[in-house]
Amino acid sequence: MKITVKRDKFDSTKADVLIVPVYQDTPFEAGSPVTQLDASLDGLLRDYLDSRDFSASLNSTTLLRTRGRIAAPRVLLAGLGKPDMFQIDHLRQASASAATTVQKLGVATMAMLLPATELDLETQAQAVAEGALLGLYSLKTYKTSEDDSEDKPSLSELQLLASGGSAQQKLAQGVKRGEIIAKAVSLARDLSNSPGNDINPSYLAKTAQKMAKRTSLKCNILSRDDMKKLKMGCLLGVAQGSVQPPVLIMLDHAPNGTAESPVVLVGKGITFDSGGISIKPAANMEDMKMDMSGGAAVLGAMQALAELEHPRRVVGLVPASENLPSGEAVKPGDIIRAMSGKTVEVINTDAEGRLVLADALAYAVEHLKPERMIDLATLTGAVVVALGAHATGMMGTDEDMMAILKASGDHTAERVWQLPLFEDYSKQIKSDFADIKNVGAGRDAGSIIGGAFLKEFVRDVPWVHLDIAGTAWTRASHPYIPKGATGVGIRLLIDALEALPRPDTKAEAKVEVSSNGKKPSSAEKSKSKGKAAKAKA
Ligand code: BES
Ligand code: ZN
Ligand code: ZN
Repeated sequence: MKITVKRDKFDSTKADVLIVPVYQDTPFEAGSPVTQLDASLDGLLRDYLDSRDFSASLNSTTLLRTRGRIAAPRVLLAGLGKPDMFQIDHLRQASASAATTVQKLGVATMAMLLPATELDLETQAQAVAEGALLGLYSLKTYKTSEDDSEDKPSLSELQLLASGGSAQQKLAQGVKRGEIIAKAVSLARDLSNSPGNDINPSYLAKTAQKMAKRTSLKCNILSRDDMKKLKMGCLLGVAQGSVQPPVLIMLDHAPNGTAESPVVLVGKGITFDSGGISIKPAANMEDMKMDMSGGAAVLGAMQALAELEHPRRVVGLVPASENLPSGEAVKPGDIIRAMSGKTVEVINTDAEGRLVLADALAYAVEHLKPERMIDLATLTGAVVVALGAHATGMMGTDEDMMAILKASGDHTAERVWQLPLFEDYSKQIKSDFADIKNVGAGRDAGSIIGGAFLKEFVRDVPWVHLDIAGTAWTRASHPYIPKGATGVGIRLLIDALEALPRPDTKAEAKVEVSSNGKKPSSAEKSKSKGKAAKAKA
């Protein structure tokens, strides 16, 4: 679906449906577009809302025929919920609810008014674009017949209506950002939702190479032979039970060829996790095709950073492998040697994610001189027990970075929640026969033990670990997250990377709180920074 910005009046737009976001139990603001629209419709909207036939609760929608009173034949009221509860994610959700409702009508075009909010137009347009595009997402590759396609046209255009030239420009900028981000999230969803027989490590490598051809990114793929030379015993150990060769994917976003220390993103890329010799139970094992969701998030984020022309250097790493049992697979009790030189006793072959990440993190520390590192991984079932589907587990060595990620989680509705990484936890992974072992003594603090294991490989580089096992896929449909892979992490990372201070301005890492008590979005922050820069010049 294309999203356009038109200088058009709500009553003259010829779209098949005009979407009108409305607040619950709230009079229209005098002089606002919705008030004018209501006047053109002879009070139809107000009557309808006052009748209580439609509550305007968040994500509710209702369709009205306009009977020639305006050019669009239909109005779709889209509920935003109560105005005092309003946050930008409600607009993202309402846009998705409206888009999916209109798609079911089988019409080709829709136009949308923006609600009265304090948020700037760019932020609103971005949210509308993200919501509509992500709400309409589906994996198209494998269904040979569309269930209810009939002869209806499919939704092909969303028009945002601008009142003047400067509004048009701001809306267009927001739409562009929203489209870039939604495309990256859709790529990650496609990779995760697609089956393990197609999405193997080599496929992920090809995806990264193609991405680099299309963008300014540089791509380098380490093969099994390269890993042997680098002595990546952990990544090689996980991969040794599979006929599919492992890869370590590297994508470099270096604006103007800068050699500055990068922020390094590392994503777990296990394209199928059977558990290996410590094999998993059969129930829901098919979900483990999505055990590369951290890697997919890193690939998506790298694409988005390149297309958004992010000003700082970022390197993305995806250690990718299958985890399968075979006569050659790593066995419980085996001791392998990590690239860092540490020896690791593999107690449970199902704790493979931390092994592949260990070598990727150590590679980054040794070869990339990272300013900081963030890893994303579907690492532990325990984080699902702790936080369910509503937050990503976060641990790390840098409180400032975690505060930024926490704020970005709130702005983007990809929330994170911090767990502690006290030294005491690290004691639990001491091995009797090797330096460390890959699991703790029992089931206690399973997610933290995973984090404590990774911490062994980051040296003094500021680092944050995001355990996305509970947030990477969903069985419950949400307005802009259909069942299956969520693509979580990309919107969070982009927002956080834009908010991260340069290393020499560390004091600015404090989370800003605006005068109305709400945290400003990164878009708002970068705007105020821009203003400050202009004022100085
Ligand atoms: N990929 C799994 C974690 C997982 C579980 C992700 C459920 C999403 C949903 C990971 O490799 C794993 O199996 N972890 C083990 C670790 C344990 C053996 C210490 C787990 O969580 O059971
Ligand atoms: Zn596992
Ligand atoms: Zn796994």
